[in-house]
Amino acid sequence: MSNHSATQHILVTGGAGFIGSHVIRRLVTRYPGYRIVNLDALTYAGNPDNIRDIEDKPNYTFVKGDINDAAHVSSILREYDINGIIHLAAESHVDRSIADPLAFVRTNVLGTGTLLECCRQYWKETSKAIRFYHVSTDEVYGELGDTGYFTEETAYDPRSPYSASKAGSDHLVRAYYSTYGCPTLVSNCSNNYGPNQFPEKLIPLMIRNIKEGLPLPVYGEGTNIRDWLYVEDHAEAIDTIYHKGEVGQTYNIGGDKELKNIDLVRTLCKLMDDKMGRLLGSSEELIRFVKDRAGHDHRYAIDFSKLKNELGWTPATDFKTGLSKTIDWYLSHQDWVARIADGSYKEYYEKQYGTGQ
Ligand code: NAD
Ligand code: TYD
Repeated sequence: MSNHSATQHILVTGGAGFIGSHVIRRLVTRYPGYRIVNLDALTYAGNPDNIRDIEDKPNYTFVKGDINDAAHVSSILREYDINGIIHLAAESHVDRSIADPLAFVRTNVLGTGTLLECCRQYWKETSKAIRFYHVSTDEVYGELGDTGYFTEETAYDPRSPYSASKAGSDHLVRAYYSTYGCPTLVSNCSNNYGPNQFPEKLIPLMIRNIKEGLPLPVYGEGTNIRDWLYVEDHAEAIDTIYHKGEVGQTYNIGGDKELKNIDLVRTLCKLMDDKMGRLLGSSEELIRFVKDRAGHDHRYAIDFSKLKNELGWTPATDFKTGLSKTIDWYLSHQDWVARIADGSYKEYYEKQYGTGQ
């Protein structure tokens, strides 16, 4: 670790969500000498079940709270003598941002601003600077054509309320470095997949619908391209960047696995037909091409050579293995899926995919 004290007291925000839960598990189990505090508002996307297995570990504390609550955040910084923050709490789903953009401005922009301001005030009052690592997305760079890659120098060009709000938060984090000298870092990662992802995102939604024999809604012609990274590899990258990254820097994270949506959905159908003993090809019959997402970004692809060359990280999980593990997890955690697919999920699903699509 380059520039901070040996005993780490890390505040992780959004640790009950998809990626946050994998980050929490990794930190709590790998670093028994650290104190890991998880601040999460438990929105629809936050789920205590995601971290049930580590909730009794002595180096772990869960605090329910909102990153917009400055008084609460400030009291946590003091109570736990926090010297690092890994900030993941966010509204994270593009389709929801199209339906309710201001919720994204509130949490992603104002919430991140509030956290930064609490850190700045804490630094002023105690002379202790908090290492602030902001976890962001490649979607801030906008969309690519059929060639090229996002690098850390690519100009921001967000095109959805989600990516615009994440871009706003990234800019604030950088501004706190250049204006106030706060020790901040940013990473921008491509699409994650793996256990514990809320079934509003492409892969878990398709797995659930294939299992249930429901229609598989593919937006537009299914030709949009995403780069996929297994969530535990992202957690490893976050661990690496938190410990070895240079303040003031940005690191791109990617999976080196670009796929057209339709090819990914067909692969899921084949793998699941096989695992569930269905006739090969039967799940593919569930595919429906539906109305395209507004402003649907064509392609994301990441050049992560900076992270590879400077900090030595590369993705460890090959896609077939990761996807197979993910399917197995969902099939063996039907209770987890059932608990999530509650009234509010049904309401969201009906609004998003209801008649007319
Ligand atoms: P998620 O939606 O699964 O989880 C978000 C978590 O944040 C939930 O636990 C939720 O309860 C919590 N939260 C939301 N608003 C909060 C608030 N106001 N105060 C405190 N907690 C709050 O999200 P995810 O997919 O795990 O993404 C985590 C982070 O990683 C986000 O910042 C996202 O932008 C970024 N990211 C995600 C992906 C991806 O593919 N999922 C890729 C790159 C970057
Ligand atoms: P998503 O998982 O929402 O991630 P993001 O929009 O942040 O990349 O969507 C991944 C891709 O899958 C994206 O191109 C939109 C598409 N998609 C569908 O075709 N159907 C769906 O039901 C969903 C949720 C997404």
